[in-house]
Amino acid sequence: MTTKRVGVLISGRGSNLQALIEAAKAPDYPAELALVVSNVPGAQGLARAEAAGIPTQVVDHKAFASRPDFEAVLDDALHGAGVELLCNAGFMRLLTEGFVTRWLNRHLNIHPSLLPAFKGLDTHARVLEAGAKVTGCTVHFVRAAMDDGPIVAQAAVPVDPDDTEDSLAARVLAAEHKLYPHALRLVASGDVHVEGEHVVGISRQEGQNALFSPPLPGTL
Ligand code: GRF
Repeated sequence: MTTKRVGVLISGRGSNLQALIEAAKAPDYPAELALVVSNVPGAQGLARAEAAGIPTQVVDHKAFASRPDFEAVLDDALHGAGVELLCNAGFMRLLTEGFVTRWLNRHLNIHPSLLPAFKGLDTHARVLEAGAKVTGCTVHFVRAAMDDGPIVAQAAVPVDPDDTEDSLAARVLAAEHKLYPHALRLVASGDVHVEGEHVVGISRQEGQNALFSPPLPGTL
């Protein structure tokens, strides 16, 4: 089996990175983590990568005069490591159209909502404010607009009446940790591809697997 060389971009905690690290240990996993890049020096995720023996690099955006300058160094690091697929995992920088185009359909992001609902920051607070009864998480291909792009996989998560922002974030994060490895497997294996800004190729059975939500009250 050939494996795709994956680069992971982080800015912080790196719990989704950890989920990818664990998944990639399986002998049949179609991706290996070739490089972890953080734009934040000292990010917790860097220590996770080091503990797993994955090369790391810090490309501190504050050291650059412009986004393209920052991204040129990022590109060099990724190409130097032979990265074929890129995963944002809590990466908190917007990327220019130029960078996004260079990695088009080879670049994933995870967002803690059921996109296209609740794009942007403070997702869980806004879900609670809206009184939504279901939320979730989405892995999608990256486009220049924030939290936009063809959806690879989603997991639905119920909102409990007594949820706080923290309790909801924790429930969604647990779903993220299952969803991201699953979505990366679909993409790295070549089982899915983008056609007309939709992800296609997921069989009915895989589509069912892509939803990890527990049964919702009243639906069974
Ligand atoms: C996750 O909730 C992810 O969906 C969002 O930022 C958070 C990152 O968490 N984009 P971690 O760094 O993976 O722990």
